[in-house]
Amino acid sequence: MKACFMGLGYIGLPTAIIAAKHGVQVTGVDINPHVVEMTNQGRLHIIEPGMEEMLQEVVKSGALKASIKPEVCDAYFMVVPTPFKGNHEPDISYVESATRAVIPYLKEGDLYVIESTSPVGTTDKMKDLIFAERPELKDKIYIAYCPERVLPGNVIYELVHNDRVIGGMNEASTTKAIEFYSQFVQGTLHRTNCKTAEMCKLTENSSRDVQIAFANELSLICDKAGINVWELINLANKHPRVNILQPGCGVGGHCIAVDPYFITADFPVESQLIAKAREINNYKSFWCAEKVQNAMLRFELEHHRKPCVAMMGLAFKPNIDDLRESPAKYIVTKVMQSCNNANILVVEPNVKEHNVFKLTDYKEAYEKADIVVMLVAHDPFKTLPYTTDKIILDFCGIYKK
Ligand SMILES: NC(=O)c1ccc[n+]([C@@H]2O[C@H](COP(=O)([O-])OP(=O)(O)OC[C@H]3O[C@@H](n4cnc5c(N)ncnc54)[C@H](O)[C@@H]3O)[C@@H](O)[C@H]2O)c1
Repeated sequence: MKACFMGLGYIGLPTAIIAAKHGVQVTGVDINPHVVEMTNQGRLHIIEPGMEEMLQEVVKSGALKASIKPEVCDAYFMVVPTPFKGNHEPDISYVESATRAVIPYLKEGDLYVIESTSPVGTTDKMKDLIFAERPELKDKIYIAYCPERVLPGNVIYELVHNDRVIGGMNEASTTKAIEFYSQFVQGTLHRTNCKTAEMCKLTENSSRDVQIAFANELSLICDKAGINVWELINLANKHPRVNILQPGCGVGGHCIAVDPYFITADFPVESQLIAKAREINNYKSFWCAEKVQNAMLRFELEHHRKPCVAMMGLAFKPNIDDLRESPAKYIVTKVMQSCNNANILVVEPNVKEHNVFKLTDYKEAYEKADIVVMLVAHDPFKTLPYTTDKIILDFCGIYKK
């Protein structure tokens, strides 16, 4: 079987590699020539433990080759970005352009699958696009949606062992897609229709967002009430049926902070809670920045000099180097913009260099700072002692009891 993966990023490349390792003849397509070149040289352009060895193996054996153009295959997978536009409207133009690129190659019996996180109805839209261009293929090809739910950093395991939801435009399409994925997925492949599968992916990430918003809302209430939110949540979670997540300085990343907008954009009246959760999580970052600015002003009034402030963390979650949609980065930017003369030290131990922020070693920043702002619960920060000699703003529970 020959398969074509459109998009060789964090999801498309590992999936292409695993499929190639399991006997599929894979053409990996990316519009970025650098990605194509590196892949063909057996060099991984993303960070994913253990994946480069596998890539080298499948490139060497000829099971995977990369190209900037698709070619005739039996199955086509769209694994391209689905960001949102300025107004939080989903942008499916990458899916559309990848689909247009494969349309000329489609033939009777082929399988077309979208893996990109997509608004409800995207698979139907692409089906209409395909049949408008190639009406002779109506009822002759299989079309399905199969979202991805792997955790970067653990992709080799999760790609094979996670359960997956597969929704075809009809039963035959679902069956055909399940046949493909069962070549390398050991988790259960759950059948559904394409709209439910699209909504399922959005639901998973919106559920996380809403639950984090609850924790973040509690943190705002507790701050006003003079209650330690970490202790509170720990105690509430002693209830056998309560499981509250941890608050933080907001919600970031390219999934949880993005996907709920794919629901709110299309169902604005119905998605009140999902929209409010987005608002609360965004507000939490704004609130944190205000807290830092107020602490700096108070320090200046009391000590008649500007404070040295250590901003601890830029990534969107602990122990990673990914800064996409990061609330910590937003807070650091906002604080720096408002206090141009203050001495602000930016810390991110998982990143060597940054093109905007001059980075400082975490121990050095902590030692020098009058105000320490804990933004991300990176493991190294947990080795820094709590002290009353400094003002410590702990937004991520480094010193939680
Ligand atoms: N990264 C994750 O953890 C994750 C998890 C689940 C779902 N997803 C979803 O998977 C999809 C892909 O995400 P990603 O993280 O792999 O993105 P990515 O940005 O890492 O990679 C996408 C790749 O697609 C390429 N591309 C863009 N347009 C193309 C086209 N027309 N033809 C061929 N290649 C094209 C880009 O050059 C890029 O290399 C998105 O919808 C994302 O929301 C991502």
